[in-house]
Amino acid sequence: MACYGDLRAWFRRRRRAILIAAGALGAGCVLYYGFTRYSAAALARARAVEEEESRLRAETEEERILHLRRHCDEIQLLADATTLPSLLAHLSERLFELVNLSELTRQLMAGKEGPQALTPDEKLNLWQKLKVSSFTRTLCAAWGMGLVQLFVRVQLNLLGRQLFISTASFGDLPFSTQHKFLAFGDFLPLHGIALLVQDVEEAVTEVMRDISLKKAYSFDELRDLLIQIQAAFEKQQKDWCRYLLPENDKLPEEDYPVAESSHSRDDDEQLLVAKARDVISSAEFQHTLGAVLDALLDTMVQDLLPYYQGQPAVGLPLAKLVPAVSSVGMLLDNRQDSKYVRAVAELPEVKSFSAMVYGSAA
Ligand SMILES: *[C@@H]1O[C@H](CO)[C@@H](O)[C@H](O)[C@H]1NC(C)=O
Repeated sequence: MACYGDLRAWFRRRRRAILIAAGALGAGCVLYYGFTRYSAAALARARAVEEEESRLRAETEEERILHLRRHCDEIQLLADATTLPSLLAHLSERLFELVNLSELTRQLMAGKEGPQALTPDEKLNLWQKLKVSSFTRTLCAAWGMGLVQLFVRVQLNLLGRQLFISTASFGDLPFSTQHKFLAFGDFLPLHGIALLVQDVEEAVTEVMRDISLKKAYSFDELRDLLIQIQAAFEKQQKDWCRYLLPENDKLPEEDYPVAESSHSRDDDEQLLVAKARDVISSAEFQHTLGAVLDALLDTMVQDLLPYYQGQPAVGLPLAKLVPAVSSVGMLLDNRQDSKYVRAVAELPEVKSFSAMVYGSAA
């Protein structure tokens, strides 16, 4: 698996440092025995001990790599199979509450004729709202999904690494601490999503405000439009932590798991959250998220392709693309075997990012 390859590379990079440290220890041993003028037999014994130690060192390193490899792979599987589906379901539920298109659609349908008929201005106004909201909801679904996927990996890899270290050093990371740390995964669906909707809506409005619903879009032009909105959104960003972590690194009382006492001071939990914040603020996160957003946009564009089948070469008017774009947003909510989830999980950037988080948390 790539995760294993990345870990090996990580170890290889550090191998030199590890060997230098080991060499220094060995040399120290010889010097000590030399200065104390031990007998030749004692020196030979010392050498034998040294050789045995270096053999053990090599073995432990091999074991460590194996252990890390198993652990790292397990973590990625765990992320995709268990934690992620429930978080994504929660995310899309909240998104559909926050950006609710059915009321707008209902008003437009009811206003077609009869006593509730809308004036042309009212109609245009509703259509403009529907335009912005449809694009906002779909893009929020995609980008929220990307953020959740990366964040879960940050959490599980930090936790996995910490557990590995505490087991190796016979320490202990209480279950309640792990539980509390994982509870931060729900921050985006519960709170961060509102800010995400606001920011995405701003980007969509900036790019699309003056575009007429009659304007025709070819398939390539539609992709360019989406890329333009993504660029506007990414340009706004200063700090991805705003969506993923509470400002003071403390969850509101009611968001902690019921069984855990949130009042107890938990330094380990705060340490893990601080590490997560560091990772999310890093250039590597920014770089990986960029690749994730690109991959999600690609997948989304592929889902829009069928709407162009049998259409004239000039393309489709924006008014027809609005429902297409909102339907694609619904596809993102496929909880079983989502190709959007797979598109992210299979990215080489995501795999090396995971290994990097796992490897650097020591
Ligand atoms: C959207 O709004 C309608 C009516 O305003 C409501 O019945 C429906 O439950 C809302 N949907 C969601 C997902 O909140």
